[in-house]
Amino acid sequence: MVAKLLISGGRKLCGEVKVQGAKNSTLPILAATLLCEDESVLFNCPKLTDVDATIRILRYLGCKATRTDSTLIVDTQSMKRSDIPHDLMREMRSSIIFLGVLISRCGRAKMSLPGGCELGPRPIDLHLSALRQMGIEITEQHGELECVANDGVKASKIALSFPSVGATENIMLTAVKAKGTTIITNAAKEPEIEDLADFLNKCGARISGAGESTIIIEGVEKLYGCSHSIIPDRIVAATLLSAAACTSSKITLDSVIQSHLSSIIPVFEQAGCEITCRSGKLTIDSPRRLYSPKLVRTMPYPGFPTDAQAPVMAMTCKAQGLTVFVENIFESRYKHVDELNRLGANIKVEGKVALVDGVRHLFGARVRALDLRGAAALVVASLCAQGNTHICGVNFLERGYDELEVVLQSLGADIKKI
Ligand code: UD1
Repeated sequence: MVAKLLISGGRKLCGEVKVQGAKNSTLPILAATLLCEDESVLFNCPKLTDVDATIRILRYLGCKATRTDSTLIVDTQSMKRSDIPHDLMREMRSSIIFLGVLISRCGRAKMSLPGGCELGPRPIDLHLSALRQMGIEITEQHGELECVANDGVKASKIALSFPSVGATENIMLTAVKAKGTTIITNAAKEPEIEDLADFLNKCGARISGAGESTIIIEGVEKLYGCSHSIIPDRIVAATLLSAAACTSSKITLDSVIQSHLSSIIPVFEQAGCEITCRSGKLTIDSPRRLYSPKLVRTMPYPGFPTDAQAPVMAMTCKAQGLTVFVENIFESRYKHVDELNRLGANIKVEGKVALVDGVRHLFGARVRALDLRGAAALVVASLCAQGNTHICGVNFLERGYDELEVVLQSLGADIKKI
């Protein structure tokens, strides 16, 4: 049965909630457990369908993975294959991260090319050209990708033309056991890259500079399993802040890393919210009516994250004045706009720019989520809309939010899954 969310808007939120572990750290770190030929223990892993899809791939490859609450234990000793079939690859585009991992562990990898996705074209040319530079032979045929490191992996100097998160991670994972030193310049600086490097270093890798634009990876012979706790999810934090702001609420988020929110917090402050951070807790106190934050431009980290664009846009729908959004990372990342307009918002899109003219009221309606962050935007908007909203396409939400409806219920929202 397909789940829907039913939200009765207009309630103020209050209380304290813990922010879940980061999806975008959990996925590559889970894949990276394959590099240690024994057991790894990961704490603070959110329950998400994307995490389940990654576990299904690990099990297909022959590994054992067990979950107790938010702890995942992965034992990769019994791994026996280096291919991933099409039906497992198509569940999630980010499975491309297994490319670097399989090459490092087995010297080869076979998988289907990731197909299109809901954010427009997402090519993997940067991943492939970096791997070719590292001596990997790659053939692409009939939608299949076959990679072989006949003469081992060659440590190299790789200059990325764009700081792609996935390409940076794939290069790190491929280089970690190569002979010699690999240097990535113009690397992505996202906190999730640093978390992956922290995990790998605990396992015995020698990676420095993660979180900066030059990453240096000195290859090591072997990695050993370790225990690691996943960092909090900064996008989930931004979503909860948006929900609090647009319902004129005061809430506290437990388990946040303030520096990871350095481009997000100012947007809420410009909207008139008061934010205080103390020892891993962040409190937002929101005014009766928000001001428009004027300009939100998505950029690679430490810029404003593209993943927070949709939920923050939902927050601005009722703000006083005009907010200009410029989406610089993905094409086709405004699919939530038509649905927000169904709720009474006034948003116009022209290419990569969206203009949100704040309205006094939003009104409940039947809407459909078309992607993960768009689904979160619809939840945020319906919390501050008058009347009832039905959201279908909830499966998208479950890819990245661990029981968001339960979290919001605990803050006093009238939301249920039906
Ligand atoms: C990761 C995140 C995703 C986030 C995105 C940008 C994970 C699992 N996903 O996705 O939530 O929205 O970073 O912060 O961590 N590009 C190319 N060629 C390539 C690779 C990327 O042209 O080979 C382009 C993409 O089409 C896109 C841009 O670069 O326009 C950013 O992509 P990238 O940083 O690679 O994002 P992902 O790693 O896919």
